[in-house]
Amino acid sequence: MPNKLALRLSVVAPSITLAMNAKAQELRAQGVDVFAFGVGEPDFEPPQHVLEFAKKAIDSGVSKYTAVTGVPALKKAIVEATEKRRGFSCKPENICVGVGAKHVLFNLAVALYEPGDEVIIPAPYWVSYPEQVRIVGATPVIVETTEESGWKMSPAQLQNALTPKTKAIILCTPSNPTGAAYAEGEMKALLDVLANHDCFIIVDEIYADLVYDGFKHASAAAIAPQLQDRIITIDGVSKSFAMTGWRIGWAIAPPHIIKALDLVQGQSTTNPASISQQAAVAALTGPLDDLAAMRATFQKRRDVMVAGLNSVPGIRCRTPVGAFYAFADVRGLYGLSYPKKGPGGKIENDEDVAFWLLEAARVAAVPGGGFGAPGYVRFSYAHAEARIMAAIEAMKAAVQAAKT
Ligand SMILES: Cc1ncc(COP(=O)(O)O)c(C=O)c1O
Repeated sequence: MPNKLALRLSVVAPSITLAMNAKAQELRAQGVDVFAFGVGEPDFEPPQHVLEFAKKAIDSGVSKYTAVTGVPALKKAIVEATEKRRGFSCKPENICVGVGAKHVLFNLAVALYEPGDEVIIPAPYWVSYPEQVRIVGATPVIVETTEESGWKMSPAQLQNALTPKTKAIILCTPSNPTGAAYAEGEMKALLDVLANHDCFIIVDEIYADLVYDGFKHASAAAIAPQLQDRIITIDGVSKSFAMTGWRIGWAIAPPHIIKALDLVQGQSTTNPASISQQAAVAALTGPLDDLAAMRATFQKRRDVMVAGLNSVPGIRCRTPVGAFYAFADVRGLYGLSYPKKGPGGKIENDEDVAFWLLEAARVAAVPGGGFGAPGYVRFSYAHAEARIMAAIEAMKAAVQAAKT
């Protein structure tokens, strides 16, 4: 049939996050004040000096195509920031800047994976990892981790998942959705296993600047320089500088991978927006006061969110070390009355919990099933403390009402 959609789309799961958002928007349109804890972006504005610099860039005529993989000034800024903040050296030829980290990961999938390839992804995972692997016809191999293990994959689990078909592994530290992060020794133990298996090691470090309680982020490329010809680090300004809409993220990889990304990007989007690139230069080279302040604020909010969630009967939440998500066990809410499901209806799974929370407490959050962890719900704490506390009270009231 000439008007049929490509078969590859049939294996891609629709996003539960979008379904939740649609429902939340529907409520908002009716004038309901929704606690938007489903979103994955800081509520802060980018640093003022970044905005000023971007405005100046517009006035000075930075309006043309640039080199596909980014302008030299941005690559220089990334080289210096990586050395300073991630602890490893790279050169401009190791960098491809794309339209956000998601775009770079997608281009990597196009450049690296083929049908028959396996890509190891520890669960809970960021929703896009397995879908990007599937879209290009490769197979995600999901390695389940548990809350008891701190949501971290052990070296033995990794060893068991490796096969001759393993083309790559995607690690995310700190993690979306769990906020867990591998300490240096833990990362080194995983890299020791990977040293004996010739595959790409993709490490998404987009939340690396948002770690709390003095936790020290451990970059894979800094720990195992001998594996630098296989390590691909993903980073960007979306989270650290509250610049989600500017769409700037990058890969740091061996030059032949960068050339492949250049090819893919050159035939699709070309360069990321020229003004956004200038804004990213300003973010990376300017003062880091706003980042430090945002980190301190997130840590306080995390504590309010985690304590609050633990005070809701039926919800249990560990304290995450990074990112801005609380990943809570909501199985204690199963069995509560949920009349919207029909007469005698009860909450039976994490999706029910998420939709029920939205309807009964006006709290939008994302069910864990979408991240490969049913039984849990992800709450973003990128919100003012007062909002978080108000939402917790609304949840408590909803639980109380559902019991009676
Ligand atoms: C783990 C992870 N990687 C990558 C991204 C994408 O970031 P960007 O906005 O730079 O595309 C996100 C955004 O939610 C994320 O959570």
